[in-house]
Amino acid sequence: MLDDKIKKITGEFHREILKINDIKKLENLRIKYLSRNGLISSLFNELKNLSKEEKPEFGKLLNNLRNMVTNQLTSTRQKFESASQGPTEKIDLSLPGFAGSIGSKHILTQTLDEIKSIFKGMGFSVFEGPELESDYNNFEALNFAPDHPARDMQDTFFINKDFVLRTHTSPVQIRVMNSKKPPVRAIMPGRVYRNEAVSSRSYCMFHQVEGLYVDTDVTFAELKGTLVSFAKQFYGEDTKYRFRPSFFPFTEPSAEMDVTCYLCNGKQTGWLEVLGCGMVDPNVFGFVGYDSEKFTGYAFGMGIERIAMLKYGITDIRVFFDNDFRFLKQF
Ligand code: PHE
Repeated sequence: MLDDKIKKITGEFHREILKINDIKKLENLRIKYLSRNGLISSLFNELKNLSKEEKPEFGKLLNNLRNMVTNQLTSTRQKFESASQGPTEKIDLSLPGFAGSIGSKHILTQTLDEIKSIFKGMGFSVFEGPELESDYNNFEALNFAPDHPARDMQDTFFINKDFVLRTHTSPVQIRVMNSKKPPVRAIMPGRVYRNEAVSSRSYCMFHQVEGLYVDTDVTFAELKGTLVSFAKQFYGEDTKYRFRPSFFPFTEPSAEMDVTCYLCNGKQTGWLEVLGCGMVDPNVFGFVGYDSEKFTGYAFGMGIERIAMLKYGITDIRVFFDNDFRFLKQF
């Protein structure tokens, strides 16, 4: 009798546990089989109706049944609990990590940083202007006559009749002077565009740093002093320099500065042209409403690629924009 009941309950439990799919149903199953009034306890109660000889045998069968049910319930519960805790995959903390590679500043940024820090040391602050510029700021207010050759389609990317991709950073001079009264002492770095055939020596886009100092009694001697100090800090104390007369519509008189550079890898010998400069043309002051009887000023402009090429012996301007890792990694 008891034997049949044990078999029946065992089979029933095996069928039922297979259908359990959540922890609540599992708990109900536990109550049904293992609680004080559960099916297995009621079988234990029946032991007292058995003879002395039968008792140990059935006691053992019932104990086995109870252990089997307890074990199955426990392992099913563990399965549910670990599933709700996400993946059980073990992480081996002793394995070496992945070495992330650290980037570095582009050589043009490094060069610009160096130029900026030299001029900041001489009291210049930094201004920036937009790359899409009005024809007025890029040319007209800088005293370019309407038929000046620099406005020619060959050199300038025109957006429309009134807007261009700036061909130099000099329009930022106009923006600075329009936004504040003298004294002004600023450098203005940025990207510029020229519609030129791309070759190892020229690219359709490059970078310049502009400089502007306006105050009462600014002289050409101060311009020279500032640029010579820059050249010695940037190219080395033994750098020789010379100023050659030149022409820019927005400066009068104008000059170009050449240097000898012993830091520039041995190949660079003789004079190297590094920048254009001059005293701000009084006509430009007229465009920005500065009193040219009261104020004088100087301006200068240099190409960052050109300076970096000289200093590091780079022979092709295009490498700055190729983003070839083998080139970038060298700096
Ligand atoms: N803007 C000039 C150029 O692009 C450089 C320059 C700047 C010259 C300021 C004189 C003064 O060539």
